[in-house]
Amino acid sequence: MRKLLVTSALPYANGQIHLGHLVEYIQTDIFVRYQKLIGNTCYYMCADDTHGTPIVISAKQQNITPEALIASIHKDHVQDFKAFNISFDHYGSTNSEENRCLAEEIFLNAKEKGAIYEKEIEQYYSEADAMFLPDRFIKGTCPKCKTEDQYGDSCESCGATYAPTDLINPKSTLSGAEPILKKSTHYFFKLSQFSEQLQTWINSEEHLKPELQNKLQEWFKTGLQDWDISRDAPYFGFKIPGTTDKYFYVWLDAPVGYIATTQKWCRENDIPFEPIWKNNEFEIHHFIGKDILYFHALFWPAMLMVSEYNLPKKLHVHGFLTINGEKMSKSRGTFITARHYLEKFSPEFLRYYYAAKLSGSIEDIDLNMEDFIYRVNSDIVNKVVNIGSRLGSIVTKKLNEKLTTIDKAGHVLLDEITAEKESIAACYEALDYAKAMRSIMALADKSNKYIDENAPWSVVKDSPEQAAIICTTGLNALRLLTIYLKPVMPELTQKIEAFLNIPALTWQDLDTCLENHTIQPYEHLAQRIPVGTAL
Ligand code: MSP
Ligand code: ZN
Repeated sequence: MRKLLVTSALPYANGQIHLGHLVEYIQTDIFVRYQKLIGNTCYYMCADDTHGTPIVISAKQQNITPEALIASIHKDHVQDFKAFNISFDHYGSTNSEENRCLAEEIFLNAKEKGAIYEKEIEQYYSEADAMFLPDRFIKGTCPKCKTEDQYGDSCESCGATYAPTDLINPKSTLSGAEPILKKSTHYFFKLSQFSEQLQTWINSEEHLKPELQNKLQEWFKTGLQDWDISRDAPYFGFKIPGTTDKYFYVWLDAPVGYIATTQKWCRENDIPFEPIWKNNEFEIHHFIGKDILYFHALFWPAMLMVSEYNLPKKLHVHGFLTINGEKMSKSRGTFITARHYLEKFSPEFLRYYYAAKLSGSIEDIDLNMEDFIYRVNSDIVNKVVNIGSRLGSIVTKKLNEKLTTIDKAGHVLLDEITAEKESIAACYEALDYAKAMRSIMALADKSNKYIDENAPWSVVKDSPEQAAIICTTGLNALRLLTIYLKPVMPELTQKIEAFLNIPALTWQDLDTCLENHTIQPYEHLAQRIPVGTAL
């Protein structure tokens, strides 16, 4: 049996969880639930990413302290993740004592080993705002195509990337004031020093998919840039040891949050921490979006190398969500929060829809509302739930809620279902959930065909015994399909377990049948979504 530590990226604590985020948390959660279902030891860690300038600004705008802001967002995030059945073993915060200690430890370790140096640099400073301005807080005219109102790091019109000092006519986005150049000493992490080690790591043991290995090569070609890991006050974060007005850049302490969250949880639950992050007993799996690949494939492994923590076994990278073919955007009304979705639809349906779309590649996925409703109705309601509702009502009303035995024809069907056990397992492991869902729905089709052909609703009139055999077979098919679907649809699974009157299903239960058993009266498992329902 394997031991895994699984993480999702830590969401920023300056906004609500939205449907884009949920692609990642649902993808990860399905993987985690699958690992637990087959009996592996698997811990799932996540936390809020609480530091940085945007948090300071948000808090200021709301007239509260950053601490108050992150506390209230933490509550919201926890509630939203719970509503979508994201099964973290622990959901922490990067603003914790554990994280401060570990960030300092890793920094001091790296410094001692000569991987960190100080350098004076010149940056835009806004006197009106009394702060140095991060790239995203400066706007001006693109130096290349001359489009106005572009951010300090890149142009949305021509795609050029540049330094904020290249902008024509730069202005603070906070006050509109023109910034001045000001000198300050910063700490740099010598990423270039790890170039060879990183390249070896990236290209070995399938830590990343080949398409990503290739993409990463581009960065090595131009040479790795050393990384500015410090920020000047005012900032919300951890002060750098030995300084009075320098803070760790949020991206330094954020991934350390993976370790700190694990450590805190281990301490609280008396679980040994060393085997997870120190001596390679556990496989570490990070799930991330493609936008933060650079941090996770370069900076983070380098930090782990220098501080002698375990390196990840896998980086699982997904694409971005579009809604009805469009980028999520507040102005276009396609920015849908988790909460907003829940006012209209069941969390289980989004979990299923994403599963049906995710194949483990970095392709973007689209949430098309028409397709969503069609898929949920035709797969979940008309295929899976249909088995339960058709047979459940017969067993409840005509057969005293009693299952009997399965005959030869019945075993043919059930064997066909269990024959796909290995291939479905392989799909879950490879994150090709789309393929797993296609197999499961094809098996649901076969089960419905068996029921149609055997028509227990007419057989029951003349031969209740024979009808009971048919219903027993059909409900066993439902039970097997439920095991396959369990990582994706935990609530539906629970309802089916209650209806079948059985303990929580495990993967091993694929090897057994449910015979001579009393079930519970049938109650609705899921309702069709009315066609045309909008978000
Ligand atoms: N705080 C950083 C991660 C630090 S990890 C040490 C961050 N936060 S985030 O809130 O912006 O994003 C969290 C995760 O959600 C990221 O992996 C990101 O790729 C993912 N997504 C955010 N928007 C998304 C979509 N529209 N579609 C798919 N995934 C998206 O990045
Ligand atoms: Zn431009």
